[in-house]
Amino acid sequence: MAFIDFTDSEKVNVQKIDNQHQSMLKIINRIHARITQSKSYDCLKEFSDLLREVENHFETEERYMKENRFPGYYSHKLEHDRFFNQMVNIFEKMNSGSFSITEDQLNSFKRWFYNHLELSDKKCGAFLNSIGIT
Ligand SMILES: [Fe+2]
Ligand SMILES: [Fe+2]
Repeated sequence: MAFIDFTDSEKVNVQKIDNQHQSMLKIINRIHARITQSKSYDCLKEFSDLLREVENHFETEERYMKENRFPGYYSHKLEHDRFFNQMVNIFEKMNSGSFSITEDQLNSFKRWFYNHLELSDKKCGAFLNSIGIT
């Protein structure tokens, strides 16, 4: 069983967003598999892939929200910005060799993902669905 599963209940029913969520979770699962196999595994490359996917994904959601005048845009974007800044900090620490990803860290990403999905992304998805975007 994967560290994070992507099932129908994780879907927001907008194809592009669902695909991006799935591909970010795949990278997190890959990092999890690597660090559980070897505690000393350096996952800088995977983390940099993740950072790029997250950035691209947040831009996609923000574009959908802005273009369609979603009323919750600002608070949703703020959540993205905070999370992205945290990830950049982690990446910089990893890059300088003063930090390595732990399972705890991955658990905190997982919690963030589920919280954000339930409280923000699903609202955004329902809004987009209501105006015919799937
Ligand atoms: Fe989001
Ligand atoms: Fe999202």
